[in-house]
Amino acid sequence: MSSPVRLLRDAPLTARNSFGVPARAALLAEVNDARALPGLLAGDGFAGARPLVVGAGSNLLFAGDPDQPVVVLVGDAVTERSNDGAETILRAEAGAQWHDFVMQALARGLGGLENLALIPGTVGAAPIQNIGAYGVEVCERIHAVEAFEPATGRWHRLPAGECAFGYRDSLFKRQPDRFIVTAVEFALSRQPQVRIDYAGLGDALAAAGHAAPTPRQVADAVIEIRRSKLPDPAVLGNAGSFFKNPIVPAGQAEALRAAHPGLPVFPVGPFPADALAHGETPQGPRSKLSAAWLIDDCGWKGHRRGDAGVAATHALVLVNHGSATGAQLLALARDIAASVQERFGVALEPEPRLVGDRW
Ligand code: EPU
Repeated sequence: MSSPVRLLRDAPLTARNSFGVPARAALLAEVNDARALPGLLAGDGFAGARPLVVGAGSNLLFAGDPDQPVVVLVGDAVTERSNDGAETILRAEAGAQWHDFVMQALARGLGGLENLALIPGTVGAAPIQNIGAYGVEVCERIHAVEAFEPATGRWHRLPAGECAFGYRDSLFKRQPDRFIVTAVEFALSRQPQVRIDYAGLGDALAAAGHAAPTPRQVADAVIEIRRSKLPDPAVLGNAGSFFKNPIVPAGQAEALRAAHPGLPVFPVGPFPADALAHGETPQGPRSKLSAAWLIDDCGWKGHRRGDAGVAATHALVLVNHGSATGAQLLALARDIAASVQERFGVALEPEPRLVGDRW
């Protein structure tokens, strides 16, 4: 049996981030068994430090070396917790690879995650930025999140309703470093209602001759669409969408659309209660703008500066053509955001976590 923790010193992080940029961790722990966390975090090199938890490194940018010890959870067991016929609660440890887990759920006959197929990353990272694609956000399928709180030494099992989920947002993202997500429970179904309303998905399924598609067929269509638009990080370093789609007052969105008729604008739900709790003020109805369109319209798609670039297939994806550094990618991102600000008066925010610098 492998030991619960493997400690590495001066560990290279290049292969541990999907941008493939160079960085090193003075101390890195690979944790096989999350129950070892309290002992590890009280021990040499970790006590008193805020560890940086890294999953598959597919949603972060190392603009410099982390100045904290790094923890990587590698336990990836998947177990069925309950099954009442209609709904099955499937629990996966944080280190499971997200796409493998989605395919495993489908192989067990469980639907609900098919729209989220092929998203890079781990199960433990999924609730942190509330991953979403093709009309579904993972929070809609999360039953509970298990987490360890280093500051108090307490273990938590947070029902989905207590995780303050929002668009690419959660309690775990709003309070970074407070919790280490160790496992996630998903509520899945053997008779799921498939969701194929997202632009292009229904058409792709109809073209493939699937009038009443199964979850597996939806997953296959999503995989095909993603492969056609989003570069594979194993081939061309990237972290998916580099910017969030900006949320602005609905009036501003309408004015922008009047001036730029092609701009995709989507309504967003009510102001999250959690944002109110954080002192933010609701300012009436809001709309989500397509960041990809704004960036594309500024002429950035396919742009390249040394090895840092914008994907030729999707304006929202920054790519590393080989030996770009995180600092170079960040400099490019800042220039893109400045040009969108200047042309449209809209502020873009990065989606991935920045390590070693601030936005
Ligand atoms: N568009 C352009 N130029 C481009 C790409 C897109 O103008 O180069 C416009 C098109 O009008 C298109 C629209 O943008 O219809 C939306 O594009 P897409 O369907 O690719 O979605 P997105 O809003 O750019 C979001 C997520 C993706 C997710 C897709 C599909 C964010 C920040 N990104 O992208 O998530 O895969 O929807 O659901 O919400 C990620 O978070 O890393 C990610 C890849």
